[in-house]
Amino acid sequence: MNYRHAYHAGNFADCFKHALLVALLDSFARKAAPYFVLDTHAGAGRYDLDAEEARRTAEADTGIRRLLQHPSPSLRRYLGLVEQLGLYPGSPALIGAVLRGNDRLACCELHPEDAATLRRHFRRDPRVEVHERSGWEALGALLPPREKRGLVFIDPPFEDRNEFFTLADGLRRAHGRFSHGIFAAWYPIKQMAAVRSFHGSLVSSGIRDVLAVELYLRETTNPDRLNGCGLAVINPPYQFEDQAHLIANAVLDGVGDNEIGAGTAVIRLADE
Ligand SMILES: C[S@@+](CC[C@H](N)C(=O)[O-])C[C@H]1O[C@@H](n2cnc3c(N)ncnc32)[C@H](O)[C@@H]1O
Repeated sequence: MNYRHAYHAGNFADCFKHALLVALLDSFARKAAPYFVLDTHAGAGRYDLDAEEARRTAEADTGIRRLLQHPSPSLRRYLGLVEQLGLYPGSPALIGAVLRGNDRLACCELHPEDAATLRRHFRRDPRVEVHERSGWEALGALLPPREKRGLVFIDPPFEDRNEFFTLADGLRRAHGRFSHGIFAAWYPIKQMAAVRSFHGSLVSSGIRDVLAVELYLRETTNPDRLNGCGLAVINPPYQFEDQAHLIANAVLDGVGDNEIGAGTAVIRLADE
């Protein structure tokens, strides 16, 4: 495990996934019944964008810092949370900020230092559990939750060549245990062949009601670069498809450099 999210916090991919995550979380507020969130690859929770790790890559300069300079109305809620939370909030901090009194969050993080930081962050919050264990394993162990509603957020580091396969398999297993839950899984776009094959495995899994929201910074001619990223969403809430269009376009408008091939897409992989 070499990946440390502190080097990448607040980059364009974080902005994309976190703005969509907040929209998914907000959809639960339409009803009073409590919900459960499982964050399978949670990271450390909050990131100092002036710390050495973040400065070394300066990825936040072309991500969240650009979005905050020219805030788009479609990103108001996400950017408001980022400003409110101080240090750049990773997925567990954003989820923790949106949860209501009876909602619950379980976070899994395998890196001992990041798991300890996350545990400290939530030490006074009885709604949140932090597990230093594999998120892939937790898809079996922690699902289905006792609540009737929930979101499973899967954000793997993609260090491993088989990660697309592991992700498709994890979604299939988890959906089998919690078929009415919402699932959101982030993936990198380096070359289109890998992405198409991932879409194909979702389609052939037979899971219904699947969207892929994608943002492309540029053409995928250099497969060594992170040319874009996507979020696969199973059981998207009412009106999320329209919201996802607005959010992806607002993120691209803010962080993109108008390169050839830049764009966004919301692709319906399987109907309801
Ligand atoms: C992309 S980062 C997560 C960022 C976080 N979701 C956020 O949005 O702020 C991926 C994290 O997964 C952790 N990790 C790697 N393999 C894991 C596994 N099998 N189970 C849980 N965490 C894992 C890494 O240590 C890293 O912190």
